[in-house]
Amino acid sequence: MKEIINVELKTRTVDFTKAETDLLAVGVFTGAKLDKLCAELNSRLDGQIEQLIKLGDFTAKTGTSATIYTNNKIAAKRLLLIGLGEPKKATLDTARKAAAQAANKAVGIKAKTLALALHKAFGAGLDLSQMAQAVAEGVYYGSYRYDEYITAKEDVRLDSLAVELIDPDSAKTKKLDKGLEAGIIIGKAQSSARTISNRPGNVINPPALAETAKNFLKNTPGITCTVFDQKQLAANGMGGILAVGSGSVNPPRLIVIKYTPKKAAKGLPTVALVGKAITFDSGGISIKPSANMEEMKLDKSGGIAVMATLKAAAQMKLPLNIYGLIPSAENLPSGSSYRPGDIVTTCSGKTVEVQNTDAEGRMVLCDALHYAVKQNCDVIIDVATLTGACMVALGKYMAGLMGNDDKLIKQLQKAAEQSGEKVWHMPSSDEYADEMKSKIADLKNVGSRWGGACTAAAFLRQFIGDKKWAHLDIAGMDMFEKPTEFTAEGSSGYGVRILTAWLMNLAATKS
Ligand code: BES
Ligand code: MN
Ligand code: ZN
Repeated sequence: MKEIINVELKTRTVDFTKAETDLLAVGVFTGAKLDKLCAELNSRLDGQIEQLIKLGDFTAKTGTSATIYTNNKIAAKRLLLIGLGEPKKATLDTARKAAAQAANKAVGIKAKTLALALHKAFGAGLDLSQMAQAVAEGVYYGSYRYDEYITAKEDVRLDSLAVELIDPDSAKTKKLDKGLEAGIIIGKAQSSARTISNRPGNVINPPALAETAKNFLKNTPGITCTVFDQKQLAANGMGGILAVGSGSVNPPRLIVIKYTPKKAAKGLPTVALVGKAITFDSGGISIKPSANMEEMKLDKSGGIAVMATLKAAAQMKLPLNIYGLIPSAENLPSGSSYRPGDIVTTCSGKTVEVQNTDAEGRMVLCDALHYAVKQNCDVIIDVATLTGACMVALGKYMAGLMGNDDKLIKQLQKAAEQSGEKVWHMPSSDEYADEMKSKIADLKNVGSRWGGACTAAAFLRQFIGDKKWAHLDIAGMDMFEKPTEFTAEGSSGYGVRILTAWLMNLAATKS
């Protein structure tokens, strides 16, 4: 069973017309005159590029592409023009998406080799090392498929794709080389996250997720992974995680990952990344409607994004201490389930009146957040497919970002911009927290009808004490319902790129 495609990524110094490859991808901006590269290719290909543009078949808008068969006039078998949109709007993510689109296409036509000359179109506009990182991330993103359970060979992608970032100038390939390693690490981590998330509930339950985490992280220098079973959860008073897990024969777990660098840079905070991992969310006794309920296998994606981020951080040898805390349970209705009306004592000692068993994410997260506070982590970021309300508010394009520290919010907004995993800042202030007060316990687990993403965040905020905290509500970001021109349907792996970008920025402040 192959989990992710074996992508081989390198740079090569070669003339664009001389690159022997199944598919040569070139970026084109709208409205721009053919640059030198395109002009040369155009003349070698009897003016076909010009024709495509003139006839309006290729507009160069973002997401568009056109294939030209080269008939041996250049070394590549096919030339793929990729639309980059308006030059004024170009960012790193433009390059990332273009690479994703090219890789997606390459996998679609079962190409064995792909050459990317995308960066050239940007001129000197963007840093080449950062661009190579983004392009590598994009290649993994676009070539991704979830096909480990498809037995019909013709429906399955090839085992591997060899990708080259090409430039005729060796000074430029050298600069591209610099960012490639990080891009490969992050791209691979994100693809693995997508596969683990895409696995169904009968394959991944909390104990299986814990085993998967151990396997996934073993042999990663600096990483330890320990798992709290039911007994240890009880010994630690983690009533929230236990309550949510009580309805399933598959018991809950808390996965505790710790990354300790060889040498931590002085003055950097200890970080905790906390990720919700409900391996299947039926809603429990407050059961969900059956339509699209299968999507709730992806309710573990926050936790899996955390797991993948820790691996990437360790592989990049970032000089800071990081915890990855993943509370995992299966939310099912049964005779042993927790019920509406129950009062649960959480790890912090705070009591919670359960008014809806489908608001289970906050019940497991509050125990893990409290654990992070007890470990004396300075900065805590949680990632969770927490509320449908966040999806209603922001749609499928941005994650909700809440928090109690302006600087941290700004840092995450910057990481979002760099990584192309977008966020929108939303409130979680006292007004929202007031709605979460119970008459018969300290808190209740649902607020009023309105502002559900904000009341959920305000609930989590009660467990943070005086630590710096941010919350990413990724419901809506965790999956693509349909394949796009950039990538396959299913889990998106959201979280891996923004979190690694944030960690890399943090590490860079002290090196
Ligand atoms: N996992 C869901 C949130 C979700 C919804 C994620 C849609 C992805 C897509 C979460 O556990 C949930 O059920 N939230 C409830 C909370 C409510 C009962 C207060 C919701 O959003 O309806
Ligand atoms: Mn739920
Ligand atoms: Zn859920």
